[in-house]
Amino acid sequence: MAGVKVLAESSVVLKSVPSKFNFVNEPTASNSDSIPIIDFSLITSAQPDQRSRVIQELGKACQEWGFFILVNHGIPENDMEAMFEAASEFFYMPAEEKRQYEPKNASDPIKCGNFNVTDTSNQTFTLWRDYLKLYVHPEFHCPLKPEILREALLNYSVKMRKLAGALLEAISETMGLEKSYMEETLNLESMFQLFAANFYPPCPQPDHAIGIPPHTDHGLLTFLIHNGVAGLQIEHNGEWFHANSPQNSILVNTGDQLEIFSNGRCRSVKHRAVLNNEKTRISIVVANGPSLNTVLGPAPPLVARDGRASYLPMKYEEYIESQLTKSRVIGKSLLEQMMIREN
Ligand code: OGA
Ligand code: NI
Repeated sequence: MAGVKVLAESSVVLKSVPSKFNFVNEPTASNSDSIPIIDFSLITSAQPDQRSRVIQELGKACQEWGFFILVNHGIPENDMEAMFEAASEFFYMPAEEKRQYEPKNASDPIKCGNFNVTDTSNQTFTLWRDYLKLYVHPEFHCPLKPEILREALLNYSVKMRKLAGALLEAISETMGLEKSYMEETLNLESMFQLFAANFYPPCPQPDHAIGIPPHTDHGLLTFLIHNGVAGLQIEHNGEWFHANSPQNSILVNTGDQLEIFSNGRCRSVKHRAVLNNEKTRISIVVANGPSLNTVLGPAPPLVARDGRASYLPMKYEEYIESQLTKSRVIGKSLLEQMMIREN
């Protein structure tokens, strides 16, 4: 496995995408100035009217978009910079150094490489992306090299956990639950936290390959930052939108577990990463979930209020495993399979 990076830099200048990457893209997406922006400093604000306004906005963002841009989040710019630096150092290491982390099992706590996906018409294609994926909580796993990675990642993952905790408290409130309801019922002190760095080299034919095809994230909340190169798109009411975000903001999306827990109040929306032919794009992703042994289903107080549960419960660990295997074969997302339909 040489990686997409090596291919993109090969001495033969690539004019077209090698056939194994071929993916028929539906490249259209629009700009939207209505992607919600949430000011985190107001959530911790002492002023009750400001606070209740932002809680209301947050609830609306989770319900209507499943996605928002978080500003004034208090994560220092230097901490983010350190993550980009460490991630690029990792991807620029020689292939021999990275080879030890090629996955043997899907559940390896440290893995890197590129990824094959089989679509609903049984076509297999390779994603135009190199990745590094690490399990960082409750156990912290990190490659020994590059040396700067460990400290930067430890610091960043702790801060992302705190941020996830604070946002989940606020999201509990938006649904009329006790602030600490999720922390207690979902064992957030041993939350499963997954780190991913994505490296998308310039692609000679951006419409003939894809970085990550449309998918939803399996956890509660995903945090994404990128190096200023656009590429993330999100689905909203059946249309695709560019998720452009201001410098130093954090893109947050609500995942499958939050949709299930909220009995459908929060939405886990589809998103994808598209390519460009000029610049390398790097994204740093932290996915925050419940603990792996939590059996997650719709919260009982919400089910009582709604008169019915709209989703089946499942142990989070099994959910992740099934998403890795079954859903891709069936061609229907696992989240859709968990829905209880009214007839
Ligand atoms: C992901 C993801 C998008 C991006 O890693 O789950 O959706 O822009 N990444 O890298
Ligand atoms: Ni994603």
